[in-house]
Amino acid sequence: MTRLIRAVIDAGALRHNVRTIRERARGARVMAVVKANAYGHGLVPTALALADVDAFAVARLEEGLALRAQGVSQPIVLLEGVFAAEQLLEAARYGFDLVVHDALQIEILEEDPGPHRFVLWVKIDTGMNRLGFRPGEFPAALERLRSLKPAPLEIRLLTHLARADEPDDAMTAEQVARFREAIRGLDYAISIANSAGVLSELHLGCDWVRPGLALYGASPFADRTGADLGLQPVMSLETSVIAVRHVPRGETVGYGGTWQARRDSRVAIVAAGYGDGLARGLPNGTPVLIDGRRAPLCGRVSMDMIAVDVTELPGVQVGTPAVLWGKGLPVEEVARHAGTIPYELLCGVSQRVPIELR
Ligand SMILES: Cc1ncc(COP(=O)(O)O)c(C=O)c1O
Repeated sequence: MTRLIRAVIDAGALRHNVRTIRERARGARVMAVVKANAYGHGLVPTALALADVDAFAVARLEEGLALRAQGVSQPIVLLEGVFAAEQLLEAARYGFDLVVHDALQIEILEEDPGPHRFVLWVKIDTGMNRLGFRPGEFPAALERLRSLKPAPLEIRLLTHLARADEPDDAMTAEQVARFREAIRGLDYAISIANSAGVLSELHLGCDWVRPGLALYGASPFADRTGADLGLQPVMSLETSVIAVRHVPRGETVGYGGTWQARRDSRVAIVAAGYGDGLARGLPNGTPVLIDGRRAPLCGRVSMDMIAVDVTELPGVQVGTPAVLWGKGLPVEEVARHAGTIPYELLCGVSQRVPIELR
């Protein structure tokens, strides 16, 4: 049977990656970042396969609600916190832990008629300039949170690194130093490291790590693949050849005629396109695995199809399996061809692609 596109999720690889991260985390607790549909891997199946992590992190309330609706009982951290009193009520009802990064969020907590008690993660902005209290604002924010009635269940502190994927960049050390300075003398659990931070061992002495990408087996570093780091790819984006055609020398393939046959060629039409989340900008020559062997993309990505030059692979026929990324073809490599990062390709897998957990 010719099987069309699906994202095959390897639960064993996911668990292998968690074990690898746990070893690198050296006793720090693991908060698995599963926002954005678990980076395209399927929020609920991924969380259910990650039963032994210490907490999950999501960006939005709705993501947390989807996890609770499927019986996920671990702590769930809302990385952006809440923005209205009704959201705070929902967070209380479902037992979410909250990041607090802004004075408005402190007001919402102060005005909560409750009584509700939360685990609060206070975010310090050490240079990312996205979310968080600047070090100068942080002591007053902390004081207000400590004075809440009833008192928070627990206060914890975090910061987020802007350039941890560039190990030689001085900014990371500066951010860590600013964080350490801001929290000097305080006795709260702390968290600094995303995947790149854990893999660079920046978390040493921290209580929690917050890996996302590494869980899914991809590398945050431009010069190393997940395999180089002892990780296994979790998602294989698999599909099949749905037509094979002879393209005479000189003719072009696809919209815009952006690929021209330099010889009489065999071209496989593969069922995957930008409607499935493939980047339309993938250039000619991007590798695709056809029956386990690399062959170059030829012509523009269309909504439902791509074309692949299989002149060198004579056995290819309708139904031959194809892999866009995954085992044998790291998503990092495809991302480089696309001029983007693996995060974007993984998160971009669209809703019409069924997720198959294995
Ligand atoms: C606050 C926070 N922590 C951790 C992560 C996980 O990052 P990564 O996927 O690079 O491990 C993210 C993701 O963007 C984040 O926003």
